[in-house]
Amino acid sequence: MKFFIDTANLQQIKEAYDLGVLDGVTTNPSLMAKEGISGEQNVINHYKAICDIVDGDVSAEVISTDFDGMVKEGEQLAALNDKIVVKVPMIKEGVKAIKYFSSKGIKTNCTLVFSAGQALLAAKAGATYVSPFIGRLDDVSTDGLQLIEDIRLIYDNYGYETQILAASVRHAMHIVNCAKIGADVITGPLSAITALLKHPLTDNGLAQFLADHAKAAGK
Ligand code: G3P
Repeated sequence: MKFFIDTANLQQIKEAYDLGVLDGVTTNPSLMAKEGISGEQNVINHYKAICDIVDGDVSAEVISTDFDGMVKEGEQLAALNDKIVVKVPMIKEGVKAIKYFSSKGIKTNCTLVFSAGQALLAAKAGATYVSPFIGRLDDVSTDGLQLIEDIRLIYDNYGYETQILAASVRHAMHIVNCAKIGADVITGPLSAITALLKHPLTDNGLAQFLADHAKAAGK
């Protein structure tokens, strides 16, 4: 299973990368705005800076909502670095754009996916990744993990190669459950990834080992 970090914060991306378990980065316009990144050149420079840190795919989202605009933006983004994956919303024009990018060998991430039907369309259009937002579904009392399970079944039925990128992951158990179901990738905040480290028995056990060692050494 691949781990992506869902942020545009360079410090957090570096911290996750230094941990040695990071496979890529996802961003979106809200996450870029949160870091105060605006203006075409600043956005481009920021994507370049992210690509310089990580060794893996970096999703960069288009802002246009029409086919021509998405193609223009996506081609510009893809030209920045081989790591760039063009993130395209699950709308009619987006599906057409994904099909176009796929025919040109440009990697895509179909975002804002909330149903199995949308995921099926994304796969048929040739998306590299599909991003079901599990946390946002949970927020509205709908089972986000069930959607991952449904998409897994559909993709396996037909051998679609589109990778299921579980997005809007909020906590460690989302990650563990996505792994059990067979999501190919999760993307979440650094806090969800580092929460996987935590277990009180690990902390207690280590404290005991160190105390026993010190005692034996006569300290
Ligand atoms: O990047 C897309 C997705 O992961 C957003 O997550 O937490 O804003 O629902 P969230």
